Amino acid sequence: MTEMEQEDDKIYSTAGRGETFAEILARRVSRRGMLKGGTVASALVLSGPVLGRAAYAQGTPPALATPAVGAKLAFESIALDTGDEMVVPAGYRATPLLKWGDPLFADAPEFDPENQTAAAQAMQVGYNCDWIGFLPLEQGSESSDHGLLVVNHEYTSGELMFPGYASQGPPEEGSEEPTLVRNPTKELVDVELEAHGLSVVEIRRADGGAWEVVRDSEYNRRITATTEMELTGPAAGAGLLKTSVDQDGTRVIGTLNNCAGGVTPWGTIVTGEENFQQYFGNLVALAEDDPVRVIHDRYGVEEETTDRRWEEFYDRFDVAMEPNEPFRFGWGVEIDPYDPQSIPKKRTALGRNKHEGHTSVVAPGGQVAVYSGDDERFEYAYKFVTEGTYNPDDRTANMDLLDAGTLYVARFNDDGGGEWLPLVHGENGLDEAAGFTSQADILINTRAAGDILGATKMDRPEDFETNPVNKKVYLALTNNSRRTLEETDRANPRPENLHGHIIEITEAGDDHAATTFGWEMFILCGDPAQGSTYFVGFDTGEVSPLSAPDNVAFDLEGNLWISTDGMPRNLPGNDGLFAVPVEGEERGFVRQFFSSVPGAEVTGPVFTPDNTSLFVAVQHPGEGSDAIYNSVYEEPGSRWPDGDGPPRPSVVVIQADDSTARIGTSRA
Ligand code: FEO
Ligand code: CA
Ligand code: CA
Ligand code: CA
Repeated sequence: MTEMEQEDDKIYSTAGRGETFAEILARRVSRRGMLKGGTVASALVLSGPVLGRAAYAQGTPPALATPAVGAKLAFESIALDTGDEMVVPAGYRATPLLKWGDPLFADAPEFDPENQTAAAQAMQVGYNCDWIGFLPLEQGSESSDHGLLVVNHEYTSGELMFPGYASQGPPEEGSEEPTLVRNPTKELVDVELEAHGLSVVEIRRADGGAWEVVRDSEYNRRITATTEMELTGPAAGAGLLKTSVDQDGTRVIGTLNNCAGGVTPWGTIVTGEENFQQYFGNLVALAEDDPVRVIHDRYGVEEETTDRRWEEFYDRFDVAMEPNEPFRFGWGVEIDPYDPQSIPKKRTALGRNKHEGHTSVVAPGGQVAVYSGDDERFEYAYKFVTEGTYNPDDRTANMDLLDAGTLYVARFNDDGGGEWLPLVHGENGLDEAAGFTSQADILINTRAAGDILGATKMDRPEDFETNPVNKKVYLALTNNSRRTLEETDRANPRPENLHGHIIEITEAGDDHAATTFGWEMFILCGDPAQGSTYFVGFDTGEVSPLSAPDNVAFDLEGNLWISTDGMPRNLPGNDGLFAVPVEGEERGFVRQFFSSVPGAEVTGPVFTPDNTSLFVAVQHPGEGSDAIYNSVYEEPGSRWPDGDGPPRPSVVVIQADDSTARIGTSRA
């Protein structure tokens, strides 16, 4: 047993006998924080950072200390907030730029929520904006004044979109709260289909620095749940991808539940299809031992009626009618926003799961690595490495790079090392005996292949992104309330992990194509006062409390920016955006920069190349939760941003009062 294993043993055997697990864990991670420096860095760990931290320790909690001169972040933290308005630090302003229903074309109708139609929605900004990409115009430039915003629209909430859509029903057994009864019609389902997908929108900065939407731009585009797409790569044409309307298994109608995404080095985007399973109902129509049902079960396809009930109006959402249709979702979809005529491509080589991320980086050898999480409790983290290499001088040559390469799944070892396990047919037990007759089978049933390889079951892997400054890779793990003490490991060390954590990965040799890596715990989120947190040694009251880390981004100095999804469940504040240095004395010094509104999560943070503008999305404002029960159009949990009418999920732009100043890091 190593020293750390002995410590683990002590922790696990002590938990629940007097000392709380939180207290034990706090002791353990701070000890590990000290140990991790090893012999070389021990002097630094013991003197430098400790002295540096002392400088922040003068404020009395809960007031946070002001940043020191020369600090990596130069804004005054805001506090947790529960109001129905956005909050940003002094010296900044946040402005809604794209709201659900905003017209995107010269002939698009104005937003009229009382009379919404599918035709209108198809020409307007979609619902529930999620990931945001900023792609400069001209293509290939570093422009920060003019560009394309690509925005995912993850899902629809009919009860908040349409008057009369939802009503109260009898409480479930054991509860006094009424249930929500949805009353979809085909007309409303058609609006919902057009409110899914993505928006591509040209924006530019006017005189004075404010951003405006170019409404009649030739680039503006809606991609929705009815847009035709192509299946490409090793699984295209596989039997499991064939349906009655696509007997070749190569053409799909639409994309669904587009959550996190990424921009490729050649200026396309890859959007992740996350919780696709919720759109497909009637799984019970298939025999229990039907291999198709077994795979759908692994991905959680609905056994009977779905909440949305789309299957009542379209056969393709009814597994009894089209058993293979769910296999055509759950992919990474590559889209070229610079070509409005381009056909979106579902890149099967990236595997199929509840995809998040798809942030890509060029490895030293020229291959492109694409990192992606599978966002569900106890699911895996993935990396795809292209077979071909990136050609910076020929955009066209890169356009199908994502069709060939190796997909890996991560194993985090308890000693701080890790392996990328290849998901390759015929290797390591991924063969016919295990039910995989081809690479296509592995790519369609990726989760089961990960099971066989012994990948590490994580606490909801979401965004997974490379820091361009220090080359390390950061994996946000949102939370996992179901993990038991027996199920903890070093990479997922907390049972009932309500608050989530962030892991820092160093690829071997800083090579993103490497098959081994080192990792360490960067932050264990939560209320610092509760003890079960870890902020690299910063003490209670020194850092902003945060919970449920979801999307991440980096500024030009390599500071990590984290948006949250689900904070109010565990902390008394709306979801927000936080920044934290990853290097030097302030490593772990988390500070809150933005607060959203009730019911919302914060998604998609992205900076312009010069960092003078920061885009974030306020997703599902007013959505029902434990705190806002039965939120409906007539009585929503928020009326942001208009103050009247329904809440409108929106992309927001944040700028400094001096619009030429860098966000977060400008020096006075
Ligand atoms: Fe759509 Fe994993 O958040
Ligand atoms: Ca998310
Ligand atoms: Ca991101
Ligand atoms: Ca989320």
